[in-house]
Amino acid sequence: MNTVTVSPGGRLRGAVSLPGDKSISHRSLLLNALARGPARVSGLLLSEDLQATRRAVEALGVTLEIDGADLIVRPPAGGLVEPEDVINCGNSGTTIRLLAGLLASRPFLSVLTGDDSLRGRPMKRVTDPLAQMGARFDGRAEGSRPPLVVRGQPLKNVRQDLAIASAQVKSAVLLAGLGAGVSVREPRQSRDHTERMLVRMGAPLAREDDGWWVLGACESLEPSDVFVPRDISAAAFFLVAASVVEGSDILLENVGINPTRTGVLDALLAMGADIEIRPKQTAGPEPVADLRVRHRPLKGTTISGDLALRCLDEIPVLAVAAALAEGETEIRDAGELRVKESDRIARVCSGLRALGIEVEERRDGMTISGGRPSGPARVDASGDHRIAMAFAVAAQCVSGGVEIVGAESITSSYPDFFVHLEALQP
Ligand code: S3P
Repeated sequence: MNTVTVSPGGRLRGAVSLPGDKSISHRSLLLNALARGPARVSGLLLSEDLQATRRAVEALGVTLEIDGADLIVRPPAGGLVEPEDVINCGNSGTTIRLLAGLLASRPFLSVLTGDDSLRGRPMKRVTDPLAQMGARFDGRAEGSRPPLVVRGQPLKNVRQDLAIASAQVKSAVLLAGLGAGVSVREPRQSRDHTERMLVRMGAPLAREDDGWWVLGACESLEPSDVFVPRDISAAAFFLVAASVVEGSDILLENVGINPTRTGVLDALLAMGADIEIRPKQTAGPEPVADLRVRHRPLKGTTISGDLALRCLDEIPVLAVAAALAEGETEIRDAGELRVKESDRIARVCSGLRALGIEVEERRDGMTISGGRPSGPARVDASGDHRIAMAFAVAAQCVSGGVEIVGAESITSSYPDFFVHLEALQP
């Protein structure tokens, strides 16, 4: 395991080219794998999680061709083919869960597995609704953990009223429903990148007033060129770093600001952050903006309900912001954090305590009393990229620095994170 000691690097200045949005990157490959012809993807994220999706679609017969800075996705003429080997989804929950849905209706057998972290993550949340559509799975603990055996077959059109708000589950159901159709509703609206992309690809998909998404029977999709916006989840680390380090002033360009993802902006603005949002014109279905952020002392806030869902992936770094803010921050309705790449509630709480911050841990969140972190400290980020990057941000305010154990996990979503952080701290 790789241990990196991150020390305060001073104020952040200038602009940085953030990586492509992870969720949209996965979908650009997986959905175009089902299209009638080739499509061009610009701005794709190149990270370990995307390598997993790339390997998966190639194993299913898709050809990926590099063309300058773009990637051309060429689906096989006769439809996806049975993979010759087990598909290893690495650390990527989006890859395994979206594939479970996509493969459930294919006329062949496939086996999906992943790394230690992914093999510990719950799969019933996808296999249960898919089983109601007629899908057949086998696997460890009755299909509740990977490896997952997918016995593809024709599925039924059913109505799925999902118990949890999860874009991965909703997307798996929609991908499984592409043959016979399906209706799906979730208790709260999770990120809607799949819906936007499916509509753009000509799928007969529409949202009804009562929140149901109704997908009609659909044989194949129109190929769709994708311009992948920069990842707001990656931007989050620099939004917080620039807010908390005195003298900072940075510009983050072409960041995706899909309203289902902008909870991090709302939370930071509520904490008093100085963030200017400059919307830009874009041809694709995803809104984009430049974000300028300057240092300004933060104050505590409450993150709960819909807001918690809209910034769930950013809660580790928002917790770091809260630890450096004045006053108390309460985070609730975020129990899903316990089943991410790690138990993020437990990891954040023990990491903040190691920095001398007072935290009260609860089942679905935590209460953080902002203060002055003490150092040096050691934090366990093994298998979880967002924990590693969140504490690298915290380290900017810890004299003596923070030792991050398992820092190589950042390659899942942001291999150039430390390069970019250094570039902003000339
Ligand atoms: C994702 C959905 C979210 C998110 C994950 C990416 C996606 O997970 O946390 O990082 O791309 O669909 P859940 O759907 O499990 O909430």
